[in-house]
Amino acid sequence: MYDKRRICQRETNQTGPMNNADSLVDNMMRGAAPLVLRTEGLDGSREARWGSQFFLGNGRMGLRGHHEDIADPASAGFYVAGTYTYAPRELVPLHDPDHILVHPKRLEAYKDGTQDPELYTLPNLPNPFTVTIKLKGREINPAQENLLTCERALYMDQALLTRRIVFRDKDQRRCIADSERWVSWQNRQLLGWRYELQCEDPDATLEVTPGFNTTVTNVRGICLYKILEASTQVNNSQITVETADQQNTIRMAMTWNTKQEAGKITIETIVAVSRHDDPDPLQLANEALVRGYQTIRDEHIAAARQTLYDHTLEIGSDPLTAEGLRHGQLHLEMALDHDNPHVSIPIKGLTGEGYRFMVFWDTDFHMFPYFLYTNPKQARNLLMYRYHLLDAARANARHWGYRGAQIPWETGASGKEETAPWLNLQERELHISADTAYAVMLYDRMTDDPVFLETYGAEIVFETARFFASRTTWNDQKQRFEILDIGCPDQYHTWADNNPFISRMARWNIEYAARIAADPRTAGIRKRIDLNETEIEELQNIGQNLYIIPPDKNGIIEEFDGYFKRDPDIRGIHETFCAHSQAVKQPDVVASFHLFPDYPQTIRQNTWRFYAERTLHGSSLSLPGMALAAAVSDLIPESVPFFQKGSRLDLDDVNGNTSLGMHISAYAVLWEAAVFGYLGLDAQADGIRLNPRMPQGWSFIETPIHWKGQRIRIRADHNGATIMADTQNTRAIPLAQVGKPYTELEPGKELKL
Ligand code: BGC
Repeated sequence: MYDKRRICQRETNQTGPMNNADSLVDNMMRGAAPLVLRTEGLDGSREARWGSQFFLGNGRMGLRGHHEDIADPASAGFYVAGTYTYAPRELVPLHDPDHILVHPKRLEAYKDGTQDPELYTLPNLPNPFTVTIKLKGREINPAQENLLTCERALYMDQALLTRRIVFRDKDQRRCIADSERWVSWQNRQLLGWRYELQCEDPDATLEVTPGFNTTVTNVRGICLYKILEASTQVNNSQITVETADQQNTIRMAMTWNTKQEAGKITIETIVAVSRHDDPDPLQLANEALVRGYQTIRDEHIAAARQTLYDHTLEIGSDPLTAEGLRHGQLHLEMALDHDNPHVSIPIKGLTGEGYRFMVFWDTDFHMFPYFLYTNPKQARNLLMYRYHLLDAARANARHWGYRGAQIPWETGASGKEETAPWLNLQERELHISADTAYAVMLYDRMTDDPVFLETYGAEIVFETARFFASRTTWNDQKQRFEILDIGCPDQYHTWADNNPFISRMARWNIEYAARIAADPRTAGIRKRIDLNETEIEELQNIGQNLYIIPPDKNGIIEEFDGYFKRDPDIRGIHETFCAHSQAVKQPDVVASFHLFPDYPQTIRQNTWRFYAERTLHGSSLSLPGMALAAAVSDLIPESVPFFQKGSRLDLDDVNGNTSLGMHISAYAVLWEAAVFGYLGLDAQADGIRLNPRMPQGWSFIETPIHWKGQRIRIRADHNGATIMADTQNTRAIPLAQVGKPYTELEPGKELKL
């Protein structure tokens, strides 16, 4: 393993926050890692946002940052990955007919009720951290007493949340309600919490009763589960629910210890959650509690610390940017389930109900690289998820009249297209199919996995290439293939022709398929899906002759045919008034710059500057995307303000909708900006090159990277980069400064570039 002292400057607070009542203050004084938000009283208008910011999860389940002793539907939420259920149409209000994403004809059908939309989401399940408290026999809601302070602290290095509420009850007794909670990173079926109520009157009788809160619902009061069984004993409680469409059963059990002293009561609880054939939750929770609440909690903290050290990137920037990036990466880690090839990462993880937990291109195109470069074993599951749903993608292509496999724009567990059916994106946001194929290529390049490409990956690549080939149109007059009638990734222009992002991705997909068709590893798959020589030649021909809009005379790439003729006046643009103009919602043309090094630097820079003036950042992908595109175009000073603002997306609620969930893909894009941009990392199958360009005012960037089963840590500052190879590596890694020949870095050794 690495010698952490030599290379890691990370600050960690080794004191468990509940071990010492003053530890929170200690941490703040020391400027250590926790993110601390203070509130004077409760703030109803901000609780929903804090619910997302203070979320804790482990990819398998997620608990929003609600108050355990104050009912508040906007901040509470408990979701289990993969438990999608059919939901009534009231779940999603119809779009405005003028909205750019609406398909006018489809909207009509749903508006007049002739068709019922098929909508899916995860149910908000009975909440496992809820307590009822009583003081001298009277039920207390701290929010309705004389509340003195309320403070929460998210310990980002431990994935642990604490809360302290201080209030005076009606008899003017001062009371303190302390709690902590965690969702285990060690055993993904477990979560735990401790709740402690103290009263300055030692004779006051205190009662705290834990239980599952079954009054919770999804948005708009829609309840998407049915209770099959529920029971409560002296120190445990169990509940079994099934989702509204009866497709998933979730069994939960909690078991607790109670400690009573004069003027104080403490409850320590372990909750276990089981899906399908998972082991019995009551037995799990009991066994865990026998081992000890503190033991299970400490195991979680150790796993969280190790995981964060092994995966996340640290920057020596201004504190606000560093804090935002750390919070964002914590959320990325909390979004990835482990060892489950049947779920992917929903767009907001499990942090909130925005976009109904659908899986978008954000996962394949933006989040996948983060996981691939830091945790390839688990990243593979994101591809296996797509592979398992390939038949549904084939059916999707046939549905729209094409061949091969068309990855749906939004889907959950079914693999079917689950975008709200009155929108126009389903058959028009085509690039997602190539985004998945690109992820397959990256995985093959970055790992030594002996079976993935030949058993699964190549099938995704061939079938998506077939789809794109069938989606092209031959223009006889211009003697070229074109891709017409698409929705640009920018999403302010959803009726366009020949978008260079889509066309480049499609061409790449087709050419890569033709290339790996020549690889003997793919012979079995080719035979199985009947991909013969004639079809491969046809793919090559389409790839060679697919039109990609070239840069104009000013070295700027047009977003689609005729874009330059749109109105340059971008005042008053909104999603109901944008198609006529040059305003763009988010990076589009520039979003592929880090993939395709053949774009000359001057073209990138001219194009980036042109679109920077026209990009309105209507999407959370936008600020980070502009940071990334600038960084890989050697515009580091231009990139940094986008990076800084992007890092604060959710902590400062930049887009005004953090209450609906965290924008986790944004932080993966920032990670890409730092790694591919500021570090200039270029990892290929034969080795790794670096080209560090440290932003001014930043002292360092440090990150772990996995390559071909080997691990390195890179630490760059203004004097260059130090790369340290893990002592457990099994082979030397070829490493170099960009443009220089490789040097072999042996296991356990260090190299300065
Ligand atoms: C963006 C899409 C993105 C989606 C989910 C939309 O606002 O335009 O590109 O996939 O949000 O993040």
